[in-house]
Amino acid sequence: MRPTRAVIHLSAIEHNLALIRTMAPQSKIMAVVKADAYGHGIVKVAQCLEHADALAVACIEEAIELRNGGIDKPIILLEGIFEASELDLIEQLDLQMVIHNQQQVAMLLEHPPQKALDIWLKLDSKMNRLGFSAEQFRENFERLSSKPFIRHLRLMTHFACADDIHNPMTQEQLVEFKRLTESLSGEKTAANSAAVLAWPESHFDWVRPGLMLYGCSPLLDATGSDHQLRPAMTLESKVITIKPVKAGESVGYGANWRAEQDTQVAIIAIGYGDGYPRHAKNGTPVWLNGRIVPIAGRVSMDMIAVDIGSNNTDRVGDRVVLWGPELPVEQVATHADTIPYTLLCGVTSRVKFHWSEQ
Ligand SMILES: Cc1ncc(COP(=O)(O)O)c(C=O)c1O
Repeated sequence: MRPTRAVIHLSAIEHNLALIRTMAPQSKIMAVVKADAYGHGIVKVAQCLEHADALAVACIEEAIELRNGGIDKPIILLEGIFEASELDLIEQLDLQMVIHNQQQVAMLLEHPPQKALDIWLKLDSKMNRLGFSAEQFRENFERLSSKPFIRHLRLMTHFACADDIHNPMTQEQLVEFKRLTESLSGEKTAANSAAVLAWPESHFDWVRPGLMLYGCSPLLDATGSDHQLRPAMTLESKVITIKPVKAGESVGYGANWRAEQDTQVAIIAIGYGDGYPRHAKNGTPVWLNGRIVPIAGRVSMDMIAVDIGSNNTDRVGDRVVLWGPELPVEQVATHADTIPYTLLCGVTSRVKFHWSEQ
């Protein structure tokens, strides 16, 4: 069997959640598990997030998967509903939703639910993605706060640049959110992972960490271990061939890597068909037998090559780590001109997943 697999370390997720608790001790935690828990398996991850106060997903399909998997925690839909027909399920499955646009307000008012719901009203504090302008935010708060079918009306916003601790925009967004909400009742939330780490003033009643639950640093130029986070995914495979390459010879499609001296390359069973980034450049780090070796040549669909030098003791069948505790995914992302989010979310279904209690 092809040895390419992703091992999910559930104890690392538990550890990261406990660490978040110590970083935001006054806040409840809404653990973000959208996009299949950032590629880690939504139900398995939710089962190990026993100590989270709620779970957040992007859409109702993800919430259904959680409820079908036996998860009975509060669940928040971060993009709310897309059509009015979802309201019945919101009630049946006891879901909470974000309301970020006028269409969603209209759907709710035209189809008032029988059971009282928890709603998160979203302010666009100038990320200019989802949420109401300041004026609409106040109007909708007034409009909705007196409705009997709303149990709790809560307040939220989202940061554009919290990952960059030198960017003044987070402080500006925070000031705007505080200004608009200080006289309003209702719990508040603003902080994603970066803000949990770097902007304690933004923690409010609830924090909403995603990436850091999975052991990665959301801050620029840092890795999870810099914050005592533990990586939750190991992507691993094995060496399937070792071959000599003479000085001047090329490796792989497009012949875009050439040996500067006589060497050996190891061919490893992983490629972009598994979600390994096609854009990983020559030199991207790969872990093999306790050291880092560089990618040599283009990533193909099922394989990559690494330069292991001519004095090695590597063998066919040796284990290789593409990212995990031995090699931070943040470093691989940098070499592939991307971010750890896309790498974690992008592991394909061809890869065998194994959930480990360790
Ligand atoms: C509204 C909202 N809150 C929280 C998060 C979690 O962000 P992060 O994974 O950076 O912690 C996201 C992620 O995209 C989001 O869209």
